Amino acid sequence: MPVARKIGEVRSELSDLAQNARTAEELMREMVKLLHDRMLKYNWVGFYMLEAGTEPPVLVLGAFEGAMTPHVRIPLNQGICGAAASTGQTVIVDDVSKDPRYLACSLETKSEIVVPVFADGKVVGELDIDSHFPAAFTPEHQDLVQYCATLVGKKLEASGR
Ligand code: SME
Repeated sequence: MPVARKIGEVRSELSDLAQNARTAEELMREMVKLLHDRMLKYNWVGFYMLEAGTEPPVLVLGAFEGAMTPHVRIPLNQGICGAAASTGQTVIVDDVSKDPRYLACSLETKSEIVVPVFADGKVVGELDIDSHFPAAFTPEHQDLVQYCATLVGKKLEASGR
């Protein structure tokens, strides 16, 4: 199936998930499963959420699909995850072996995308996806992953977290 069609289908499934999920946590659990099952190059998919009240702030592993990672808690000054959360910008790394910030989760990982999740104008967490394929996250994938982060942010806002 052409990638644009696949992404279109997955987008509409994600929108259904967001409408039907009772909580943001439920949405995140179902979202990581859907992305991992349907997007064949998304080999590890997970959320890191900022822990409330921790100083300095720390990202804590939330819902994920794929192998267990050694990085369960990530300070904001570490990793590609820390870079995305501290700047509030999407980070895409086409070849993780060339990025000194990269914290290894699996030896098979070649590329990575991390998209911040905003609620009420603030970064509250992020969606991290690793691929066994180099440069897997082209602009159409970036759009899809950013859409996911927006859905979760809206759900968090709606739940008055
Ligand atoms: N690679 C990330 C760490 C998380 S694992 O990929 C699941 C980073 O460099 O921040």
